Amino acid sequence: MANPKPSDTGEELSPEQQKFAEIKQQQAADSEYRGDRGQYMKSGRQQKEEEKAVKKAERPPAKPVTRREFLNYAWGAALGVVLVEAGVATFFFALPRFKEGEFGGIFPLGTGSTLPPVDAAPVRNLDGQFWLSNDTDGVRALYRVCTHLGCLYEWKDQTVRFECPCHGSKFVKAGQYIEGPAPRSLDQFKIQKLVNGQVVEETTTGGQALTVDPNAEYVVDTGVVIRGQSV
Ligand code: FES
Repeated sequence: MANPKPSDTGEELSPEQQKFAEIKQQQAADSEYRGDRGQYMKSGRQQKEEEKAVKKAERPPAKPVTRREFLNYAWGAALGVVLVEAGVATFFFALPRFKEGEFGGIFPLGTGSTLPPVDAAPVRNLDGQFWLSNDTDGVRALYRVCTHLGCLYEWKDQTVRFECPCHGSKFVKAGQYIEGPAPRSLDQFKIQKLVNGQVVEETTTGGQALTVDPNAEYVVDTGVVIRGQSV
């Protein structure tokens, strides 16, 4: 058993009183340590703020912008605006103007096996404004409007040809001019033939027919008109 120690006043303390006195001393020491640490941290922050203030004070004052610099900045800003506007205009120009299935846009026809047979009458597409005509040369999309004054010509089974009701112009199944006041053969729309999503053949400015492959996909682009040959 530990010997009793005298208190600050000289009185002897019991073991419990000694233990209590030791705990109080330890708490006082801890409190002092935390206080020192807080002071240290506070000093660090203050030091940083002081350094920042010194740097700010040492920074040279901002130079006034010269006339030449101002003009350079203005030209740069104007050029940037022009470039952005050109980019936006190009983006919107590249977007298709017509939806699929809308006149002026693309009309999917399906595979070659769904096209009208060679010996069948042409099939009219009202939305696309064309006659789908297939003969031994291949398939064509003939614009429904007469090349004379713009009437809508019709297919005649009796005479196996197109005839215009307005002034009597006549055209063969493939669209070539036969007779009448029309100045040229029938106009056509571009047809594309696709295999695995890739265009393998398309109507060119000559207006030739596209060969029919039963497994290939065909689309008509009513945004591209190919003028008929003049007579
Ligand atoms: S508009 Fe067709 S012949 Fe005149």
